[in-house]
Amino acid sequence: MVTPRQMNHLSGTRTKAYVETYGCQMNVSDGELMQGILAGAGYDIAERPEDADVVLVNTCAIREHAEQRVIGRVGELYRLKAARPDMVIGVTGCMAQRLGERLLERAGYVDLVMGPDGYRSLPETLRRLRQGDRGSAAGAVTAPHARRRSLPVMSAPNEYEPERLAVVDFRQEENYEGLEVRRASSISAWVPVQRGCNYRCTYCIVPYVRGAEKNRAPDRVLDEVRGLAKRGITEVTLLGQTVNSWEHGEWRFPELLRAVARVDGIRRVRFTSPHPNDVTPELVEVMATEPNVCRQLHLPVQSGHDRTLKRMLRRYTVAEYLERVELVRAAIPGIALSTDVIVAFPGETDEEYEATLDLVRHVRFDDAFLYKYSEREGTPATRLPREQFVDPDVAQQRLKRLIDLHRDIQSEINAAEIGREVEVLVERRARSEGDMLGRTDAYKVVAFPGGESLAGRYLHVRLTATTGATFRGVAVDAPAAETRVA
Ligand code: 5AD
Ligand code: SF4
Repeated sequence: MVTPRQMNHLSGTRTKAYVETYGCQMNVSDGELMQGILAGAGYDIAERPEDADVVLVNTCAIREHAEQRVIGRVGELYRLKAARPDMVIGVTGCMAQRLGERLLERAGYVDLVMGPDGYRSLPETLRRLRQGDRGSAAGAVTAPHARRRSLPVMSAPNEYEPERLAVVDFRQEENYEGLEVRRASSISAWVPVQRGCNYRCTYCIVPYVRGAEKNRAPDRVLDEVRGLAKRGITEVTLLGQTVNSWEHGEWRFPELLRAVARVDGIRRVRFTSPHPNDVTPELVEVMATEPNVCRQLHLPVQSGHDRTLKRMLRRYTVAEYLERVELVRAAIPGIALSTDVIVAFPGETDEEYEATLDLVRHVRFDDAFLYKYSEREGTPATRLPREQFVDPDVAQQRLKRLIDLHRDIQSEINAAEIGREVEVLVERRARSEGDMLGRTDAYKVVAFPGGESLAGRYLHVRLTATTGATFRGVAVDAPAAETRVA
C-alpha cells in the first residue's frame, strides 16, 4: 500500500484535498474533521478546488433546495476535471448518506459517496480510488464501474477503469474519537458532543441520515475543551442534533455544560440545537448561574398550533413551549431567544398558520430561521394524503408574511439596544472596509472600526446603529493604536 505521504515522496509533490461544506454547524464541524483526517494522512489542504487532486463536497439533506444547490455545484466542479483527469470528486455528508449508490448512478462524474460514519476510512478509501485510477501502484485494484456496490471487489491488476465507491453504512461502534480536527478558527471552536437523533419529527430526514443518538463520554469532551483552551481558544459551542438530551452514565447535559463552562481559559460557552422538551429547570439553573454560559438560547418551535405540533410529532404543546420560554426568561433576564419555524406543513390550515404568527408576535424572537415545508423522501409526513399538501403559492405567501413579521420585530428589538455598551469577542475582518466583526454574548453581530490585531480579543463596544439584524458600533476600551485600521 502506498500512502499519500509515500506518494508525495515519490512524486515530489504533495497530494492536495479541498473540502467544501454546506449546511448546519454539525456539518461545518465535520468538514473540519475531514480536513484533519486528510491532513493527518499526509494530504495538503487546498483553499481552492482548482488546486486540488481530491475535491469533497460535504452536503446537507435537510431540504430539497439544499440538495439542488449541491447538484449544481458538483456539476460545476466536474468541469475542473477536464484539466485534471486524475481528480477525485467525492460527495460526503447527509445527502451522500441519503442517496448512497443512487448518487453514483445519477451523477456519473462523482467518484465517491461517503456518509459521516465513513470519515475515519477516508484516506484508505481515497487510496483505493486513486490506485484504481492509476492502474495501481500496489496491486490492489478494484473492479471497473463499481456502480452498484458499497464495497470494492478485488480484481485483476491490469484493469484500468476508475473505481467508484459508496461508503454509507451506519457504524454503531464509530465514536469519532482519536481523529484529528483541522479547525478553521483559533478563536472559537465547535465541539460535537452528540451525533444522530432519537426524536423522529415527522418532516425530518436527520434520523435517517445521521442515525440514532450517540453521546460522547464527558471526559473526552472535557479533554478536548481543555486542549482548545490551552491553544488560546476561549469560546466553544457544544453541538448535537438535540444537544440538551445528551447523557452519559450518571451525567446529564446540565452537568456537562457546567463542567465545560468551568474549564480554565474558557470564557464563553454556547450549545446548539436544544430540543424544547429537554430544557429542564436544572439546565436553566446552570445557564443562570454559570457566568461563562452565554445568554442566548435557540429554541426551535416549528409551529404555533397544537394540532400541527402533534402531527409533526414535536412532543410538546404551545402552552408547554411557552412555559419553557417563561422559565428561561424569568431566570435569565434579557436572554436572546432564537427559533426555527416550518410553515405549510401538510394539512396546516390558515387558522393554524395564523397561530404561528401569534406565537411569533407573543415571544418576539431575537432571531428566527423560517422555512417552507420541504418533502423528504422516506419521512413519515410524505405518507400524509396528497390533498393535504399545501399549494406552493400559498406556502410562499405564508413564508413571506412570517419573514416580514419577524424582521419587524427583530428591528424593534435591536433598535432598542442602540446606545448600549456590550462586550464582543472579535472574530474577523468585516466586509465593510476597515471594520472588524465581533459577536455579543447574545450572538449578535457587530461591525466596528478596527484592525486585524484585535481578532480573538474581548472588547467593549457601544452600539451605534442597526441594519435590523446586525449592528454597527465603536470600541470604547481599546487602545487607540489598535482601533486604527491596520
Ligand atoms: N422542511 C422544511 N424545514 C425543515 N427543517 C427540518 N426538516 C425540514 C423539512 N423537511 C427545519 C426545522 C429544523 C431546521 C434545522 O430545519 O425547522 O429545526
Ligand atoms: Fe429533526 Fe426533530 Fe431530530 Fe431536530 S429533533 S433533528 S427536527 S427529528
